[in-house]
Order: sequence, then C-alpha cells, then structure tokens
Amino acid sequence: MKYPEDFVWGVATASYQIEGAAREDGRGESIWDRFSKTPGKVLGGNTGDVACNHYHLYKDDVALIKDLGVDSYRFSLAWPRIVPSGVGKVNQKGIDFYRRLVDELLQCGISPAVTLYHWDLPQGLEDKGGWLNRDTAKYFRDYALVVFEELGDVVTSWITLNEPWCSAFLGYGVGEHAPGKADYLSQVLAAHHLLLGHGLALQGYREMNLPAEIGITLNLAAQYPLSQSPQDMRAARQVDGLQNRWYLDPLFKGRYPEDMEEFLTYLGPHIQEGDLELISKPNDFLGINFYSRTLVFADEKGQPHTAKPQREVTAMGWEVYPEALYDLLVRVHEDYGPIPLYITENGAAYEDVVEQGRVKDVKRQAYLEQHVAQVARVIEAGVPLKGYYVWSLLDNFEWAFGYDRRFGIVYVDFDTQERILKDSALWYRSFLGR
Ligand code: FCB
Repeated sequence: MKYPEDFVWGVATASYQIEGAAREDGRGESIWDRFSKTPGKVLGGNTGDVACNHYHLYKDDVALIKDLGVDSYRFSLAWPRIVPSGVGKVNQKGIDFYRRLVDELLQCGISPAVTLYHWDLPQGLEDKGGWLNRDTAKYFRDYALVVFEELGDVVTSWITLNEPWCSAFLGYGVGEHAPGKADYLSQVLAAHHLLLGHGLALQGYREMNLPAEIGITLNLAAQYPLSQSPQDMRAARQVDGLQNRWYLDPLFKGRYPEDMEEFLTYLGPHIQEGDLELISKPNDFLGINFYSRTLVFADEKGQPHTAKPQREVTAMGWEVYPEALYDLLVRVHEDYGPIPLYITENGAAYEDVVEQGRVKDVKRQAYLEQHVAQVARVIEAGVPLKGYYVWSLLDNFEWAFGYDRRFGIVYVDFDTQERILKDSALWYRSFLGR
C-alpha cells in the first residue's frame, strides 16, 4: 500500500478533554465546567478540572508525540483561557501557554494543527444565549482574530470548528452535551450561528494574508438504509440531510438542503442577507472525523431510527465498519469536491487493562490497521486525502462519559498521571517506520 510522501500522519486531542488547570492563570469558566458540575450530566460526576493535567505536563506530552514519530499534532485552544468571558479582555497568560506549546512542538519538528473551537464555549457567552444568539458568531470572529494575530506566524494549519453538528444537536437539540438545552428544532439555529462564526473567522483570516491553511472539521454520518425499501431509503436520506447536507450544502454550495422543509421553515426568518455567501467562502481543506457507520430504518410514521449494529462494536457501542470510511470520502469528494480532505479524527474506545506495565489493546490496534488500509484505498481512488489523525493521543475526558471511555493510544493513570504507550501506539510508531 502506498501513501504519498507528504501525507500527514498525526494524533489529536482537545483542550477541555486533556488540559485540566480549569481555574488557573486567568482561565474563565466554560460551558463544560458548568455542565460537568451539574449533577447527573456526566458519568460518575467526572469533570475536566484536572483531566490529564496537560496544562502542566505539556512538555512530557510533546516528548511522547515526538517519540511516536508523527508529523503533526492536532489540539484545540480553550476560548475561555484566551478571552475568559468570551468577549472583551484578552488573557495574556492563556496565549502564552499556547505559544509555549507550539514552540515546543516546532522544536521537535511537529506541525501544530490548531482547532479554535472544540466545544468549550465561555460560560459568559452561554449566559447571553450561547450559539442561539447571533452575536456569538461575531464574538467567535473576534476571538479568532486575536489568536491569528498572536499565533499566526507559527501555526501550520487552522481548523475553525470541530463538529458543529455535535455542538448544535447534542448541545441545543437534545441536551446530552453542554450547555444541555433540549429544543429539537433550535439545533439548526445554533448550527447557523456556528457556521456564520466559521465564515466570519475565515473572512478575517483571509484579510490577514497568513501562510497556513484553514478549514473546518465535520463529523459526517456514514448512514446506510437497513433495507432497500423506499421508507428506509427515505429515512436514511433524512439522517443525511440533518447531519451531513445541513453542513456540507451551505459550506460548499451556499444553500441549505431544500428537502429538509421543517427545519428550513424554522430557520428561514433567521437567515440574513449575505449569510450564505459568507458561510460558503472557500476553505483550503475539509476535515472529517470518522468512527463508525449508522444503519437507518423508518418507523410506521416514517421517522428515522438507528438499527442495531451487525458487526462487532467498540466500548462506545459503535460498530466497527471501516469500509464506510471509503464510501463516505468518495461520496464527499464526488458531491462536494474537489477539495483537499483530512481525516482529523479516527480511533476507538476499548476497556484497557494494564498488565505489568503493558496495555495489550489488540482491538484498538486492529481498528487502526483496518482504517489506515481504507485510507490507502481512498487515495488510490483519486480522492485528495492529505492526512490522518488518530483520536486520541491520550485517554481523556470523553464528554458525557467522563473518564470511563478510553480512546488513547497512550494510557493515562488518572490518579498518578502516569502515561504508558499502549501496544496500539507502538504499532503506530512502527507503521510510520520511525
Ligand atoms: C468526537 C469528538 C472528540 C472525541 C471523539 C470520540 O466526536 O470530536 O472530542 O470525543 O468524538
């Protein structure tokens, strides 16, 4: 199997999931601090207060990344570390932290791929309505401009938003993620403002003439109808409409999908002139996070539901179905390309056991092997896939599942903060031949 010479291999994390130091050096409160401290929201009452203590152990973690031999490290910036209340005063200590981290990476020859927003909205902005408030898009642009100004000379790749579907649907549609609001239709209003924030930040970035590439990361559903019945096919198309086309169409075609009538009627009055032009400004790449596939069937009313997986599942209950990665990327390329693509996350949670200082995570290794094999197929098919990032470098705070689900290729003992390279990490290193 052949991968191009300049193919980017990496590992990924996100600020709230690993940093800890939640109230240090002027960091403001985020919606995830508030949500995780609300009883019943996160498994085991876990919070990101300490997490992997990466804020203090970043040098050790960069050494680990170097040891793996990857080309790039994708991480996110905590908006409340940089602009503690979301708007207004900038916290220099927050910027200094990320500067130190980036310098350390560059010294080790690792390219920093920086996500501006991986879900930790400043609580101060949520108090003003969060992503349901149109102004949040402008505050996001202001924050992004501060970051571009401060780190634009050293960062090699920018991702504006991570998975806006999760922020919108899980955060505002069903309330499983922070801020925990559950008003189903309003998810598309949150999504519109997220996309607007992306467009505004992108526009501001272009005006600065900086060298790094910039894009957005989506979690697209690899959905398949359970049967070929018209009902199941229609249901699968609906899932595609709300999770995929609702984001891809405005970004790449400058319009929302017309078949999603109920959502369009709701959103219509909130779309202002010029919004879609802004949202559809060209990106340098599209990032895709891929984990699993979804089998969809229709109930008697035609409503879509997710069917039981047909193959082996991970500790998240997500079916291992690597071929879906191929199908999805080819489809995105055909319908929305050509645009350079990156797989900005791919990985699996399993119940890991430490035995004599070793973690034999055979299943995770197999998962990764099968997916990088699909990466080769995608490239062979002529899709401009430029890189692949494993989720995650470290076991970390897995959102509503707290520390119960381990995605790392590096094991973290959350009592001692000891790190152990799992067998999957050793495999990745030797696969990369470094
Ligand atoms: C993605 C998130 C990431 C991690 C993985 C398992 O949706 O972007 O932070 O939680 O899922």
